[in-house]
Amino acid sequence: MVMRQIVFGCLIGFIAWMLFGTNIVMAKPSNCEKCHAQVTPGIVEDFNHGKMAKKLTCKSCHGTKHIGEKDIEEAELPTISTCKKCHRRQVKQYMSGKHAKGLIAVTALPGFAHKQPEAYIAGQKGCNGCHNLGITDSSVRESELRKYYKYGMDCQNCHTRHAFSKQEARQPEACNSCHTGFDHAQWEFWYHSKHGSAYLLDREAHRGPTCQDCHMPKGNHRVITAWGFLGLRLPEKDKEWLGYRVTILKSLGILDNEGKPTKRLDIVKAGNLARLTEEEWQRERAAMLQRCQGCHSSNFAKENLKNADLMLKAADKIFAEAIETVAALYRDGIIETKTNQATFPYPDLLNFYEVDTKIEEVLYEMFMDYRMKTFQAAFHINPDYTTWYGYARLKESLVEIKELAEKMRAEK
Ligand code: HEC
Ligand code: HEC
Ligand code: HEC
Ligand code: HEC
Ligand code: HEC
Ligand code: HEC
Ligand code: HEC
Ligand code: HEC
Repeated sequence: MVMRQIVFGCLIGFIAWMLFGTNIVMAKPSNCEKCHAQVTPGIVEDFNHGKMAKKLTCKSCHGTKHIGEKDIEEAELPTISTCKKCHRRQVKQYMSGKHAKGLIAVTALPGFAHKQPEAYIAGQKGCNGCHNLGITDSSVRESELRKYYKYGMDCQNCHTRHAFSKQEARQPEACNSCHTGFDHAQWEFWYHSKHGSAYLLDREAHRGPTCQDCHMPKGNHRVITAWGFLGLRLPEKDKEWLGYRVTILKSLGILDNEGKPTKRLDIVKAGNLARLTEEEWQRERAAMLQRCQGCHSSNFAKENLKNADLMLKAADKIFAEAIETVAALYRDGIIETKTNQATFPYPDLLNFYEVDTKIEEVLYEMFMDYRMKTFQAAFHINPDYTTWYGYARLKESLVEIKELAEKMRAEK
């Protein structure tokens, strides 16, 4: 009797293993899923892994125009507009934040984009691998980039297709494919900070804060900070700091020589590249402070954020001196004027690495690498990056710039 039960149990177990234990894809019984279980099994498997598979089918997002091998081009590719039909709240929040402005940051750069390979700008191999953002049905119709390249949509950036999981998007790793590296190493800062350690040592306890805790509280899809990427704001009450900032803004071609706004200010406004009123800046800072107060005293947190502000000022002082040194070379005809230089005699920082002289390459590194790391790491509680990858490199670079300037003058 017992023996027969064991044999029967093994048999059931074996059949169940044959059915579910091996890599058999649990396809849904519609034509799309049936065929795709053969054509793209990984996608069907991922989809069935997620929660939406209970209620949606492939058609819910890809439409019904493509039904077989001969009409593949007819398959619709979803945009934010597709998800909006059922997730209005998340889409509304998302569209009001910085992520949805990501395409402007790339397409609006004068004199830079057209010098890069198309696949790099538009085809997900460079800038657009991270900046293909704000993609709605209407932006697909309007965008120049979409003429060359058709894939890429926002929501899968944190909820990867086709699982579209909430749990996955809550993990800090959801941010690390983009917020990394050269000019925005937030992943590295956080990972090697006390916050990162406290979180990673015991994920269950969740003592240290994640990116989402500070930047997407309560699942709010609107991301934005007070300083932002560029670390610029207007107005500025600190007169000394304002002086450095005016130099930087001239070199970005946002202010002319009289200190008046140029038409590049329109790009700044369209892309929300900087907070342009005190209220706006204070609002985002206050919201962040509230996050800290979940775990720290307000005094402790305020002092820490203020010290990060002061590191930005310290970086701006060095950077402004470097810019003025290069501007003097243009003014004295040591470097020939470039055609698209926005505010003469200032070197145009929006050329990034598309410059002709060594001295301007060093200036570009100060701008995008060392200045960024100095203040961004300070905000992410990482003294190592602030010091050795940021501030110390700024100092070294200033010495190099001065030496190069002297040499160029001597050679002329
Ligand atoms: C008879 C088989 C078959 C059926 C039925 C089928 N597809 Fe496909 N589908 C394919 C093949 C083959 C491809 C191309 C795969 C490749 O390029 O390797 C494809 C590609 C796609 C793509 C990608 C298109 C692109 O531009 O990259 C999507 C999305 C898609 N199918 C969705 C669907 C949906 C939704 C349905 C049901 C309405 C469906 N498929 C029905 C075979 C099928
Ligand atoms: C909730 C919406 C949604 C559903 C439902 C959905 N997809 Fe997709 N699918 C997407 C998104 C988003 C993309 C990426 C589009 C882009 O990059 O422009 C995509 C891309 C694709 C692609 C092309 C990209 C690749 O990785 O090859 C294929 C093929 C595809 N889906 C097949 C399917 C199949 C088969 C099903 C059903 C099992 C399905 N999709 C269900 C949202 C969905
Ligand atoms: C036709 C309606 C519909 C569309 C279109 C749709 N969703 Fe959903 N989505 C749902 C429903 C219903 C659920 C809840 C499933 C459940 O919890 O049972 C859901 C759940 C989710 C979740 C939470 C999953 C989890 O792990 O709890 C995410 C994330 C999500 N959808 C993202 C998307 C994205 C991204 C798109 C567009 C590419 C999209 N959805 C399009 C109906 C839709
Ligand atoms: C690895 C992903 C990635 C690549 C590749 C990338 N960026 Fe970015 N970019 C980002 C992230 C993330 C931010 C936001 C960082 C922050 O706020 O600190 C950003 C910010 C920006 C901003 C500032 C936007 C603002 O509102 O302040 C500009 C301009 C920009 N990138 C241009 C470019 C250009 C041009 C390229 C190609 C040469 C490029 N990016 C390549 C991820 C990337
Ligand atoms: C920057 C990362 C990120 C992007 C991009 C993103 N999400 Fe989310 N999403 C999250 C996080 C984190 C959560 C979990 C929030 C929480 O803790 O409840 C989430 C949760 C969700 C949920 C589940 C809500 C609930 O309460 O169950 C839906 C639905 C959703 N997102 C839809 C979208 C849609 C639609 C888009 C594109 C417009 C999108 N998400 C883009 C990070 C992101
Ligand atoms: C697909 C790449 C990508 C992923 C994944 C991504 N981001 Fe971003 N993020 C960007 C880009 C690009 C920008 C700059 C957008 C712009 O030009 O305005 C940005 C901007 C931001 C900003 C605004 C900074 C400012 O200017 O004030 C915050 C905050 C942010 N991201 C947080 C997150 C968090 C948190 C996650 C993960 C939950 C995440 N991001 C995932 C690419 C990404
Ligand atoms: C303890 C809270 C906290 C955590 C955790 C955190 N950040 Fe931040 N983040 C900040 C603060 C504070 C600022 C600066 C805010 C300001 O301008 O007032 C900031 C700024 C940013 C910016 C704008 C540029 C910069 O670096 O100054 C981006 C982008 C960003 N964070 C992304 C991330 C990502 C991605 C993660 C996770 C890898 C993360 N943050 C983790 C608090 C946090
Ligand atoms: C989810 C809780 C949580 C949040 C939110 C949080 N922290 Fe922390 N913080 C911690 C923990 C835990 C530690 C590790 C304590 C230790 O070093 O002994 C820590 C450490 C620190 C440290 C390291 C120095 C020290 O005293 O050990 C600083 C500085 C700090 N936090 C500042 C901030 C700031 C600023 C914010 C808001 C932008 C913030 N924290 C948000 C939990 C949090």
